[in-house]
Amino acid sequence: MSAPIRIAVAGAGLIGKRHVAAIAQCREAELSALVDPNPAASEYARLHNVPWFQSLEELLKADKPDGVILATPNQVHVQNGLECVASGCAVLVEKPLATSANEAAILVEAAKAANVPVLVGHHRRHNPLIRKAHEIITSGKIGQIRAVHAACWMFKPDDYFDEAPWRKAAGAGPISVNLVHDIDLIRYLCGDVVSVQAQAAPSLRGYDNEDVASALLVFENGAVGTITVSDMIVSPWSWELTARENPAYPPTTQSCYVLGGTHGSLSLPDLTLWQNAEERSWWKPMAAITVPRETSDPLVNQIRHFSRVIAGKEEPLVTGEEGYKTLQVVEAIQQSAKLRQTVLLRHELGNSTA
Ligand SMILES: NC(=O)c1ccc[n+]([C@@H]2O[C@H](COP(=O)([O-])OP(=O)(O)OC[C@H]3O[C@@H](n4cnc5c(N)ncnc54)[C@H](O)[C@@H]3O)[C@@H](O)[C@H]2O)c1
Repeated sequence: MSAPIRIAVAGAGLIGKRHVAAIAQCREAELSALVDPNPAASEYARLHNVPWFQSLEELLKADKPDGVILATPNQVHVQNGLECVASGCAVLVEKPLATSANEAAILVEAAKAANVPVLVGHHRRHNPLIRKAHEIITSGKIGQIRAVHAACWMFKPDDYFDEAPWRKAAGAGPISVNLVHDIDLIRYLCGDVVSVQAQAAPSLRGYDNEDVASALLVFENGAVGTITVSDMIVSPWSWELTARENPAYPPTTQSCYVLGGTHGSLSLPDLTLWQNAEERSWWKPMAAITVPRETSDPLVNQIRHFSRVIAGKEEPLVTGEEGYKTLQVVEAIQQSAKLRQTVLLRHELGNSTA
């Protein structure tokens, strides 16, 4: 077996620590270093027997790894990503790729020019059930997708906001924090979005954000979608509470996405496929099958994939360009809700919204 791919993690916070744990579960990868300006991270690095650096610049000067995971605050993703690209180091950037689509485009273009892989941490795409759903859709089993409905309804308790004041500040509402994941999955399964109409309502708790928003999406293939997000609804219908990806969330047995096509429908994450047993008709009986699939940790799968991309064995699943397009849709939802207008999207880099 070839030597493990050496991966450094920048940002030893909530998700950075989960990446460190995921690397430990992959034979093809090893943690090479930790980067975090917070001195508390030095002890964490010592525990993992790797060197600690206070900045990415110091790391890249001292010992260039094969890849870097940026689990840092959104505001430094592009700056840190550009440093990795300049030193020819493959990079997996946590979502969202940047604080705006136009800023994301700078990183995507630099990576393209330097031929350095930039991946985005939309890890849900690495869930085997999403791979299976993608396979079902692309194989034509449900025919041409005409509609999708997605719910991202959860209740965040007051102490969630009290323990990190930025969570109450403008820009940290559920559209940008939570819906970005769902938009990425819906785009992956249904295709590019060409227009958005959205509505949002201010937080009942008085924070500088929405606590509920709903969007009508039109896809390039002519399908339409409705998607609603709220962090103020007590409900079992969110990816967090249904997909069993993160043990911190007590799971329910519900589904939160429904995709409808000309030959059948699919609910997720329970992966139930509904079709007419014989002739397609609302007069004829329908049959439902739960499609079998394996289960594995998407964060671990993402590390394996990153290692294989670095080794030149796979193409990136979530490219910088994909992260850019997802961010464009999120921005369009925010813009449409604010202006109370339809927002059209153009996908060329640097042309965020019309
Ligand atoms: N994929 C997911 O499901 C998921 C979940 C949570 C967070 N995230 C994303 O991960 C990123 C980090 O979020 P978090 O919740 O872990 O934040 P966090 O605040 O818990 O951790 C961020 C860490 O980065 C460190 N840091 C700050 N500036 C740095 C720099 N220039 N270089 C290196 N380290 C630096 C901080 O000291 C801190 O330890 C955000 O972009 C967030 O959106 C993704």
